[in-house]
Amino acid sequence: MEVIIQDNAESASRVGAEIVKKIVTAKQNAILGLATGQTPLLLYRELVRMHRKEGLDFSGCTTFNLDEYVGLDKDHPASYNSYMRNNLFKHLNIPDDQINIPDGMSDDIPSVCINYEKKIAKLGGIDLQILGIGADGHIAFNEPISSLKSRTRIKTLMKQTKRDNAQFFNGDIDQVPNHVITMGVATIMDSQICLMLAFGEEKAKAIAATIEGPISAMVPASALQMHQNTIVIIDEAAASKLNKTQYYRYVYENKPQWQKY
Ligand code: GLP
Repeated sequence: MEVIIQDNAESASRVGAEIVKKIVTAKQNAILGLATGQTPLLLYRELVRMHRKEGLDFSGCTTFNLDEYVGLDKDHPASYNSYMRNNLFKHLNIPDDQINIPDGMSDDIPSVCINYEKKIAKLGGIDLQILGIGADGHIAFNEPISSLKSRTRIKTLMKQTKRDNAQFFNGDIDQVPNHVITMGVATIMDSQICLMLAFGEEKAKAIAATIEGPISAMVPASALQMHQNTIVIIDEAAASKLNKTQYYRYVYENKPQWQKY
């Protein structure tokens, strides 16, 4: 695992965007795994800037989103469909038929999940998976005690996650659906590169447990310790409960030139 500590969310997001750019430039038909939430917003803004100002071309990319609420229409303002359209897709040149988000409105959720996994596999797997993290250490919507071997499936949200996400539902926790479809921990672990971002004090505990704690289904993100190429980019506040920050900074500052992003 590589841990990159930046002064603030802006510079962390710029470093993250450079990594995405490198992948998209090297492989025109890259498969990108995408996340939602507050955390990736600045990274998405930077990708949009790169597309507009630097001509970064996404037309060959295929995307798979991590998750979606069950029972929310695509056009509901809090759906992850709406989020992705508003914050990224309408600003880039990814053809609609290359965009994949689990269909939470389907009356056959098990088939949606199986087909999602099949489609990812058929296209050769995800090259780069962008991740945020929940305050309880969840990735995508894999809440604590999610099997570390889990695949795309339905999950029930914890009260805390509903509370955290109520901000997108006019602050009303009762409007947050109980169920979601989410890629599993094993689906995420199959990605070639995992790029996790986390900002702010409220993520510090989860980040410390993910990077320096024991691997445990109680902290699903800690499974990334078993992943071969995970990069965690955090701001000072999210890094504040880590023990080995000096070492992480030393590694980053002394990277061989050819390894730099
Ligand atoms: C939700 C999403 C996750 C995201 C998490 C943190 O649970 N399903 O993918 O990482 O929220 O969100 P935020 O970035 O808003 O803190």
